[in-house]
Amino acid sequence: MGSAGRKARGVGEANGTNRPLRAADDSDERNEPMPTSLSGRSFLKLLDFTPDEIRHLIALSKQFKNLKLTKTPHRYLEGKNIVLLFEKTSTRTRCSFEVAGRDLGLGVTYLDPGSSQMGKKESIEDTARVLGRMFDGIEYRGYAQSIVEDLAANAGVPVWNGLTDEFHPTQMIADMLTVEENFPAGIEGLKLVFMGDAENNVANSLMVACAKLGLHFVACGPKERRPHAALVETCTEIARESGGSVTLTEDVKEACTGADVIYTDIWVSMGEPDELWAERIRLLEPYRVTRDVMAMAHENAIFLHCLPSFHDTKTTIGAEIAEKFGIEEMEVEDAVFESKQSKVFDEAENRMHSIKAIIYATLA
Ligand code: CP
Ligand code: NVA
Repeated sequence: MGSAGRKARGVGEANGTNRPLRAADDSDERNEPMPTSLSGRSFLKLLDFTPDEIRHLIALSKQFKNLKLTKTPHRYLEGKNIVLLFEKTSTRTRCSFEVAGRDLGLGVTYLDPGSSQMGKKESIEDTARVLGRMFDGIEYRGYAQSIVEDLAANAGVPVWNGLTDEFHPTQMIADMLTVEENFPAGIEGLKLVFMGDAENNVANSLMVACAKLGLHFVACGPKERRPHAALVETCTEIARESGGSVTLTEDVKEACTGADVIYTDIWVSMGEPDELWAERIRLLEPYRVTRDVMAMAHENAIFLHCLPSFHDTKTTIGAEIAEKFGIEEMEVEDAVFESKQSKVFDEAENRMHSIKAIIYATLA
């Protein structure tokens, strides 16, 4: 569904509060409508959105963060209902959708992997058509990107991708908001380095986000775990327009020198078999984010991680890996994770504000 011709709308107009909030880059003096409406759109991957639309979502997230922090009620979507379909586990994404939904006045239904007929007794298409009759929006976390695309094609209501094997787009709005908070002069032209498993969903999405918003994206990891060539090509093209760039390298020093943001993620993602750990540790250990790595970056560089993270042995898997392979920290050293440069808990909190913005922008 396209957005052309729809009336632009800021936060507050939906319930007639007459207190419209505007995109942060809209000055009140100008009193112009927000430049973008995403009403009725699904949020499946960032490639479907223009840079202005992405910036709009980041600005809206900031506004919702202010409302939350000032304890200003914002039940703008009262009377609507959403359903959350999770085929993989989650802490942040599920809680963000639930709290954001409740703050907006929505009814929220959660379905875990064992509690729906989807896939086992009912096709994706049929599930989408049923849920679309009952709910105003559907969140899906699971496996192939084609599943979330199929849901969206058949539901008749907005569908939000809460993580697939290929992409994690809601994470990106929170991440870019966190980058903006730390670089208030602007994020265009910043150098963001993803260290480690650069073939995973978070790395793919970061590459797209950076390309769209004019950041210099560097994937630093082994040749065996690189983003797919076709996506690299697409992002390189997009970056050419935005003034950003895409670089793939195995050289940690080259990657991290002068970096503004260093980002990493776990080495084996959900849905991948445990047998992969031995090989991934062998391939990815040289790309752990250590204090030495952070020292190569700019002095004011920040560390980000979508979480959950294996930075110590306080988890079942962390303890098992320590026993089996003799390593107590995986993708990031505990000292970096706990350092002042680490903004991972701001980033996690921002998931809630940005998911609220995505729900609001598409449902209002
Ligand atoms: N970052 C993230 O998506 O976390 P969860 O898996 O806990 O939702
Ligand atoms: N790459 C990770 C991200 C978790 C938020 C995974 O898919 O498990």
